[in-house]
Amino acid sequence: MSNRTLTMIKPDAMKKGHAGAILDKIIKAGFRIVAIKQLKLTTEKAGEFYDVHRARPFFGELVEFMSSGVIIAAILEKENAVPDFRKLIGATDPAKAEEGTIRKLFASSLGENAIHGSDSDENAKIEGDFFFSALEKF
Ligand code: CMP
Repeated sequence: MSNRTLTMIKPDAMKKGHAGAILDKIIKAGFRIVAIKQLKLTTEKAGEFYDVHRARPFFGELVEFMSSGVIIAAILEKENAVPDFRKLIGATDPAKAEEGTIRKLFASSLGENAIHGSDSDENAKIEGDFFFSALEKF
């Protein structure tokens, strides 16, 4: 079991000023920040990141949204990082997320759901390498 996952604080949460509160919750939940950066994705790079969803009807909307503003990307470390982080952020649809989860607290809709978390150890590695070089991971 890998001990790393990749997160993005999405443009909706950044614009609403929730980045500090979200990072505080992540750190208090026991995750260590291995790498972190603020950036704005182009539509091309957002499409590349979400390539697995290219055939889905919401792909265009997802790419537009993810390139609509600044995001924070981070690699996080903790035992059982992938499942524990998905528990911390809650269901993809904030209406279905448990009380106290990051999406329940800060997300407004399925499309604009505040935060991303890798869905497998394999994708955590791919997604971490998408944003960070070896020189940026500590
Ligand atoms: P995320 O966990 O970042 O991974 C894929 C994203 O696609 C997901 O969060 C949602 O933001 C988005 N998504 C999933 N299903 C839908 C949908 N039906 N309509 C719009 N966006 C969606």
